[in-house]
Amino acid sequence: MAAEQKSEESHQKTIVNSWNEWDPLKHVIVGRADDCHIPPLEPAVECKVPNDSDMKGKWGRRPQESIDNGNAQLDNFAEILRKRGIRVDRPTPLDFSRPVNSPDFDTQSMFGCMPPRDVIATVGNEMIEATMSYRCRWFEYLCYRPLLERYFKEDPNMRWEAAPKPRLTDRSYKKDYLSRIMTIEDRLKLTAAKDFVTTEEEPLFDAAELARMGKDIVVQHGFTANLAGIDWLRRHFPDFRIHAMNFPGDPYPIHIDCTFVPLRPGLLFNNPNRKALPEHKKLFEINGWEIIEAAQPAHENPPPLCYSSVWLSMNVLVLDPKTVCVEASEVYQMEQLDKLGFEVIPVPFRDAYPFGGGLHCATTDVYREGSCEDYFPKQVEGF
Ligand code: NVA
Repeated sequence: MAAEQKSEESHQKTIVNSWNEWDPLKHVIVGRADDCHIPPLEPAVECKVPNDSDMKGKWGRRPQESIDNGNAQLDNFAEILRKRGIRVDRPTPLDFSRPVNSPDFDTQSMFGCMPPRDVIATVGNEMIEATMSYRCRWFEYLCYRPLLERYFKEDPNMRWEAAPKPRLTDRSYKKDYLSRIMTIEDRLKLTAAKDFVTTEEEPLFDAAELARMGKDIVVQHGFTANLAGIDWLRRHFPDFRIHAMNFPGDPYPIHIDCTFVPLRPGLLFNNPNRKALPEHKKLFEINGWEIIEAAQPAHENPPPLCYSSVWLSMNVLVLDPKTVCVEASEVYQMEQLDKLGFEVIPVPFRDAYPFGGGLHCATTDVYREGSCEDYFPKQVEGF
């Protein structure tokens, strides 16, 4: 990057402010693949790894070559954003080979710091560290502490919050959950019945379960957010309307951003295999929002050693209501967004997928212009 541009960026005033997924992006955190580990099995991770996954039975540090390739694409993405005048910060990796021990549990390694979206949610002028729901991710917030400490010093209006750290004892997970799962059909029956691996022992949520739309925030109820976590968010954000949604077509309901993706006011993508329930769609319909099915992914399989599905195709990062970053090989997704009137920026990112997801996962907003708007003046009782 030109020295001139860098110094201009570092002089940009720090403002923490982001109310939705589409207002003009000015400052963002982009993750890193450094030292990323495949964590050993634990109750919440085990049910996420598909039966036929190449990750079954593997754990330990990921191969250096794949870390280098992932980092090259993350660095390139950061550079694309910088060139568009967006300030980019990066997390500080820990030694992820270290075990995580607490009075309540032990696990043999951590995970990594590629997907900041999972850990930190920005809601208005607040950045909140999520509880998280995997034991291996208990300390991941520490990777973002140098940044959050800095934002707190530099922006006198920033609110820095941390949700209660969970205990994650065996009581937080259903003991026999996996033994009931034999096939994808079995999984789908369980998720349709809102029977997920986590119990209601304590509030749990990953930050990537939130989809922010001004005064209204949708939170996916699934493997990594329970009802107690959603209740905690409701009480924590009394001025917002928090809506719990579940998507019966998803056998691995983890993180909302391959399922239900706001694009701009009045428009959002829904994964055609994980259709929103009619009683949940109503809020959008009565307020004139269009829910459209995302285009099919361009790939039949995710890259090797990847947790996520091919639907990372719809894990896009909106830069402003007319501009969107899409993974460069996702030709159908790019075409669909182009037809919807967006300028599409292709970003090669499949080498970064195994480290925790796509372009939305790999980022967390710090500053988007704009303020808190009410996009849903008509509400649906009980939702
Ligand atoms: N559960 C999602 C990953 C979200 C980033 C999927 O694999 O489709």
